[in-house]
Amino acid sequence: MNLITKAPKGTQDLTPEKTRRWQAAEQVLISEARLNGFGEIRTPAFEHTELFQRGMGDVTDVVEKQMYTFEDKGGRSVTLRPEGTAGAVRAMLENGLYNAGYPVKLYYNLPCYRYEKPQAGRMREFRTFGVEVFGAAEPLADAQIIAMAMSAFKRLGLEDVGLQLNSIGCPECRREYHKALKDYFTANKDKLCDTCLSRLDRNPLRILDCKNPECKELAKDAPVITDYLCADCREHFGKVQEYLTALGIEYELDPGLVRGLDYYTRTVFEFPSKSLGFALGGGGRYDGLVEEMGGSPTPGLGFGLGMDRIMLALEEGRVEFPEEDKCEVYIAAMGDKAQVKALALTDTLHRCGITADCDICGRGLKAQMKYAGKIGAKFSMVLGEDELASGMAALKDMSSGETKKVRVGEGFVDDYLTFSTAQDDLSF
Ligand code: HAM
Repeated sequence: MNLITKAPKGTQDLTPEKTRRWQAAEQVLISEARLNGFGEIRTPAFEHTELFQRGMGDVTDVVEKQMYTFEDKGGRSVTLRPEGTAGAVRAMLENGLYNAGYPVKLYYNLPCYRYEKPQAGRMREFRTFGVEVFGAAEPLADAQIIAMAMSAFKRLGLEDVGLQLNSIGCPECRREYHKALKDYFTANKDKLCDTCLSRLDRNPLRILDCKNPECKELAKDAPVITDYLCADCREHFGKVQEYLTALGIEYELDPGLVRGLDYYTRTVFEFPSKSLGFALGGGGRYDGLVEEMGGSPTPGLGFGLGMDRIMLALEEGRVEFPEEDKCEVYIAAMGDKAQVKALALTDTLHRCGITADCDICGRGLKAQMKYAGKIGAKFSMVLGEDELASGMAALKDMSSGETKKVRVGEGFVDDYLTFSTAQDDLSF
């Protein structure tokens, strides 16, 4: 085949077999979100660029290096969504969802775009399943969303997902911490990469998640935020841990965990997959973000799970997926009139929730029956002139070979159900 082009690097096609597995996993996450009172929000795939610049922070890898930003034909700068939180905050405010009272609980399952070097679990187009909660300042909310994610992992059969936890404090305690970080890195300036040198004045916290090996090494001995937490942040963090323990959720404290986006305050967390060696998701609190976006001061928190990574983990763990819905009845037909009748009968079966199919490719009878076998039809039926004239046809159980005459006009579904249920009973 001489394709004019292939799918862009860092993207993937989800063929029906893959999509079936994705949907099964998504259903678990959606059900968990619904059990916790979340409603789905769908935001545009592109937004005005400043939404992400302001929301995620200018001095972050995502904003500095990874955004798909372009000018539209009207000369406006727009950006393909690199994450779900900023858009959810904007949509919550723009649609006045807070008017119904707090907490506002939203979930989403959206494609996101980041210009990254593609590798296992790192795509340029990836899907995020995320939740956001607005108007809940209590540590109970932090515990609730973490518990929800852990429960979803368990239901998915992902037993090796951990929980790393930290608090990065509020702007008050972070001021002191920034100063300490800046002093530490300034004293070791010669070892920093160029990007981190430029971050020294603008946002020293970001040096802590630099991927450069020398910066990473240096970051190991840097001051830790938990030593600088104010009394309120310390209390909040203590309560989050207390509630997680009460829920029986194990966690690991990681004072070096700062997350790569600027909006976080207080609790931050990640869900590392031990077998894959990277995080399946992460999140935290962002108590200043709603105000930053132009709303009234409103606490917020949430998490994003990488669906592509979850699917990799499920494959790695050989988690079983439900069987594909097989065709129940295949109606083969000979001649124009019989073909139209087959189309009408399959339509009648569909109205009753029964999977049914007939020929749409103009195949001969033998090829139609071969196709019925290929798609695993449980029952088949042949319609020709005789069947149309008599109004009766032979419905065949494809595995036992047993047949039964059924009406092909009124009463067809009743006859089908009587025969198929009798056959089901025989198989026990
Ligand atoms: P994030 O950690 O940047 O957080 O992304 C969330 C998850 O998306 C990651 O843990 C990872 O599983 C997945 N992910 C990120 N980048 C890629 C990629 N290039 N390829 C495949 N998967 C990827 C956020 O985006 C925050 N908005 C999460 C959040 C919601 N915080 C509060 N609310």
